[in-house]
Amino acid sequence: MRGHSTLYRGPVQAVYGDWPSPDLIVSDGAYGVGGFPGDPRTPERLERWYAEHIVAWSNRAHPATTLWFWNTEIGWATVHPLLAREGWEYVQTILWDKGIGHIAGNVNGETIRRLPTVTEVCVFYRRRLMFTTRDGPVSACHWLRSEWRRTGLPLYRANEACGVKNAATRKYLTQDWLWYFPPAEMMDRLVAYANVQGDPDGRPYYSMDGKRPVTAAEWARLRHPWHHEHALTNVWAHPPLNGAERYRGNGRRVAPRVHNPGKNARAHLNQKPLEFMRRIVKLASNEGDTVWEPFGGLCTASVAAVEAGRNAFAAEPDPYFSSLAERRLAGRFVCDELPSRM
Ligand SMILES: C[S@@+](CC[C@H](N)C(=O)[O-])C[C@H]1O[C@@H](n2cnc3c(N)ncnc32)[C@H](O)[C@@H]1O
Repeated sequence: MRGHSTLYRGPVQAVYGDWPSPDLIVSDGAYGVGGFPGDPRTPERLERWYAEHIVAWSNRAHPATTLWFWNTEIGWATVHPLLAREGWEYVQTILWDKGIGHIAGNVNGETIRRLPTVTEVCVFYRRRLMFTTRDGPVSACHWLRSEWRRTGLPLYRANEACGVKNAATRKYLTQDWLWYFPPAEMMDRLVAYANVQGDPDGRPYYSMDGKRPVTAAEWARLRHPWHHEHALTNVWAHPPLNGAERYRGNGRRVAPRVHNPGKNARAHLNQKPLEFMRRIVKLASNEGDTVWEPFGGLCTASVAAVEAGRNAFAAEPDPYFSSLAERRLAGRFVCDELPSRM
C-alpha cells in the first residue's frame, strides 16, 4: 500500500517541530558549490549552513533513527565533526560512481592537475547510543559488560544465560571490535538471568530507568531497521541522470521569475536517481515508518518512500521545484524511470 506524503512549500526550519519523529532522514541539502539559491559557494561555510538543521534532527530523532547524508567528499568531511558532536555515529560511506561519462570530453587533466571527480557520497549515520551509569554516560558495548560485572557473575555464565557455547562472551560482552548488538531475544535472556542469578543487592540490572530491567521490546526499539539486500555493496554505479528519468523544463513552468528552464534544460540540477532512494528506504525503514526529506528539490526520496508504503515529510521553498515535486508525489507528473541497478 502507498504511504502518505506531506510537502511543505517553504523552508524546512518552520516545520521540523510539526513533523512526527523521523525513522529515517535523507538529507540532500547544500553542497558548497553554489548549486541553488542559498547554497554557499565554498564548502567552508557548510557547517554554518547545516548547524540549525542538524540540531533539529538530533532533537527530533529517536534512538533508532538513521541519517543518510548526501554531499561531495569535502562537503561531508566539513560537516562530519558537527554531526558527530550532535550525537550522530558514523556507520559507512556509500560512493556514487557516476562513471567516465560524467566528465567525457569536459575535463583536461593536464590543466586541472588532478584526477577528474566522478563521485558523490551518501554517508550513513545512526544515533550514538549512550547509557547512564554511576560513572557517567557509557556506550552500549561498555554498558552490557559493566552491568554484567555488577551482577558479580563470572563472564562465562552469560553463555549459559543465552544458551550458547561461547558466543555471548565473544559477541555481547567483549570490548573489542567483535562486539555485536545483542538481538532482542538474546538480550531478554541475558537480562532475565542477570536479574535472577545476580547479586540481589545490585538489582535491577540492565535498567534504562533505574527502576526495572529493560524489556525485549524496548531493546528492539533501540536498533534501526535493516533489510539487507544480497550483493549490494557501498559502491553504487549509476550515470548522472539523463534520459527518461530526468525531469526537464517542458513548458510546465510555475514560477518563471524563480526558474525558467528551457524546454530541454534539466528542471533541477541535483535530482537524484530514484533507484538510490529506493535502496535507502528499503534497507533502513519499515512499512509505515516516517521518512524526512528536509531539502526536497524534486522530492526523489519521498517518491521512493511513498511507493514503498512509508510516510514522507518533505520541504522545498522554491515554488517551481515544489510544484514539480507535488505533481510527482501525486503521480501526476510521471516520466519513465531508468531500469534498476547498473
Ligand atoms: C540538492 S537539492 C535536492 C534534490 C533532491 N534530492 C532531488 O532528488 O530532487 C536541495 C534542495 O534544497 C532546497 N532547500 C534549500 N534550503 C532549504 C530549506 N531551508 N528548506 C528546505 N529546502 C531547502 C533547495 O531549493 C534545493 O531544491
